[in-house]
Formats: sequence, C-alpha cells, structure tokens
Amino acid sequence: MSAFLLLNGPNLNLLGTREPGVYGATTLADVETQCRATAQRLGFGLESFQSNHEGALIDRIHDAGRRHQAGEIAGVVFNPGALTHTSIALFDAIGGVKPLPVIEVHISNVHAREAFRHHSYISPAAAGIVVGFGTDGYTLALEGLARKIAAGRA
Ligand code: DQA
Repeated sequence: MSAFLLLNGPNLNLLGTREPGVYGATTLADVETQCRATAQRLGFGLESFQSNHEGALIDRIHDAGRRHQAGEIAGVVFNPGALTHTSIALFDAIGGVKPLPVIEVHISNVHAREAFRHHSYISPAAAGIVVGFGTDGYTLALEGLARKIAAGRA
C-alpha cells in the first residue's frame, strides 16, 4: 500500500497551544490521528514528519521524491508554516521531485492576515492549495489528493 506524507514546518509542533484564536485547539498529534483515519479510508497509509528546520524538510521532500518513483509515496500534504513566505529552497525542492504531487495547506486564511503572509513561494510548485479551513484543511487536502490520483491528474 502506498502512503501519503503529512509534512509540517516550523512551529506547527506547537499546534493546540500556539495562538489558539488563530490555529485552534487541535494538536499536531490529533491532526495525525485524523489524517491517518482519512488516509486509511481512502486506501493509503500515512507517514508524518514535522521539523523546525528548512534543510530537514528539504531532505524529506527529496526522500519522498525517490520513494514516489518506487511507488511507496503517493503524494504530500505540506504546511510549510512561515517558510511559505521565505523559502525559494523549498520551492526548488518541490520542483526538483516532480511529478510528486504536493498539496500546500494553511490552517488560517493567510490572505486575511498580515501582508507578508499573502505571498507564497510554494504555491507555484503545488498541485493544489487548501487555505483557511482550520485543521480540517489537512484531511480536505488528503481527499483532494486522492481524487487527483484516481483521476490521473496527479
Ligand atoms: C500557517 C500560516 C503561516 O503564515 C504561519 O507562519 C504558520 C502557519 C497556517 O497554517 O495558517 O506558521 O502556515
């Protein structure tokens, strides 16, 4: 069975206690549990990785790209946190492992927040984007990814 990779960037380990008015009370462990159940229902496994370090995220994307070619990783649901707005290196990493599909997720509606959150370096490389649905966005992204794969659009 191939798996989805749930990838989370800086500060998302603090979900549940970090600015709950913006990001909610759901913890990253809760998100992983919900995503594992959704992935299983869709016929996939789930792997999860969070890091506060850009290079570790890049390494994991490269690894996912190799494992996509081997049929082990079907796609990635990625919340890059603040690196969304700064990281050309993550943009290049996603571009470098195509056709691995990567769905960009943001818990908050970044477009309703500070201007510096309005630009994403990740979006042009993403296969899809889910923004502003709270932590439900992760499972919505998995659903969308599965549909794209089933339709041969990923
Ligand atoms: C975020 C939005 C980013 O601007 C912020 O830096 C985060 C979380 C979100 O999920 O809404 O860390 O990616």
